[in-house]
Amino acid sequence: MKDDILDVMLSQEVLQKRVKELALQITKDYGDEPVIFVSILKGAVVFLADLIRYTELKHTIDFMAVSSYKNTKSSGIVRLIMDLRESPEGKNVLIVEDIIDTGLTMRYICENLLTRRLKSLKICSLLYKPTKQHVYPDIKIDYLGFEIPDKFVVGYGMDYNELYRNLPYVGILKPEIYRRK
Ligand code: IMP
Ligand code: MG
Repeated sequence: MKDDILDVMLSQEVLQKRVKELALQITKDYGDEPVIFVSILKGAVVFLADLIRYTELKHTIDFMAVSSYKNTKSSGIVRLIMDLRESPEGKNVLIVEDIIDTGLTMRYICENLLTRRLKSLKICSLLYKPTKQHVYPDIKIDYLGFEIPDKFVVGYGMDYNELYRNLPYVGILKPEIYRRK
């Protein structure tokens, strides 16, 4: 597994330090306000699990799952696979996502949630690729872990063909792994 990694982009130490900082900021900003952490399956679950252990808030967690079918031009259709268990109406919602790449997924999630009369909606994403052609250019990421180069990454919840989610760091795969398919 480790042999498949070309380079470590963000080490375990670097990730944990930053997640802690984000959690402190989130704790400060929400204060006594209860909040639902809405995590997008499956990539964001590892980030969520660390984030909530560093926050001191009255919060609940919930999940949404989406799938995106992308054509070669990276525009695509996002489909809702699994909705929230609890109604978020009248609640503060914080979306917890692993990575914003084209922004297609986040745009869909935001548009979906904004129809539900929330008290507030904010976005927390561990990673963002600023160099990318974004379909959601005016997105406001309230809490961002890291800006990264436009490279495909795995680990810390993120996968390639469902593998590598367990790596405690964010890394880049060796090119031959893609070629093998
Ligand atoms: P977007 O809709 O293009 O912004 O992509 C969002 C989703 O694609 C993320 O939630 C990830 O699950 C997945 N994704 C995008 N880039 C990467 C990557 O570099 N590694 C692993 N998954 C990625
Ligand atoms: Mg994701």
